[in-house]
Amino acid sequence: MKLEMNVSATEPDWTRETVTGFWDAGPKLIRAVRRYQAAKENAGLFGGVMSKYWVLVHRFWSIITQSELHLHMPIGGGLRLPHPTGVIVHPNARIGPNCMLMHQVTLSGAVTLGGHVDVGAGAKLLGAITIGDNAEIGANAVVTSDVPEGAVVVGIPARVIRVKGQDTDVTE
Ligand SMILES: CC(C)(COP(=O)(O)OP(=O)(O)OC[C@H]1O[C@@H](n2cnc3c(N)ncnc32)[C@H](O)[C@@H]1OP(=O)(O)O)[C@@H](O)C(=O)NCCC(=O)NCCS
Repeated sequence: MKLEMNVSATEPDWTRETVTGFWDAGPKLIRAVRRYQAAKENAGLFGGVMSKYWVLVHRFWSIITQSELHLHMPIGGGLRLPHPTGVIVHPNARIGPNCMLMHQVTLSGAVTLGGHVDVGAGAKLLGAITIGDNAEIGANAVVTSDVPEGAVVVGIPARVIRVKGQDTDVTE
């Protein structure tokens, strides 16, 4: 996972969700959630019909990706799902702006991701925990407690190996 420099933890970068082709499954799944929520905000017949349409679109891309990104959950703008398979997000989870979830990531329960949190492939984040802005979760980590801002964590259970912007090695 390449650290993306200059990604904001607070200002959503909507270009990260751009759909680039029909089979661009990650952005298509996210777009279905966005459009459903927008349709729901539109009272009246049109909003009602469109919300049902986006439910069907959402079902389609959920099946294709074997992922669960619930229609009602608040998701900060700029979410990226680069390899959208098996990404499971509990409806009580919260995702800040400009986050990235790799394949086979699970957010189980009321996990709160800050802004610009990158979660590596296969990582599992369990319970009512908070991940600070700009944190990075290593591939296959199992995270069971809060992660400070800018921390890079790996392992089972996950431990901090370094904090971005600090030269100190925190492995010992
Ligand atoms: C966690 C991560 C961001 C750390 O990257 P980094 O800061 O460059 O760290 P390093 O590669 O220098 O590794 C530092 C130490 O952590 C260990 N480590 C790195 N990633 C690890 C992981 N996922 N699980 C367990 N240990 C890991 C290294 O073995 C090394 O240990 P050592 O100091 O005992 O030798 C990165 O390794 C990672 O897991 N990224 C996710 C990648 C991903 O999911 N890619 C999907 C692409 S399809």
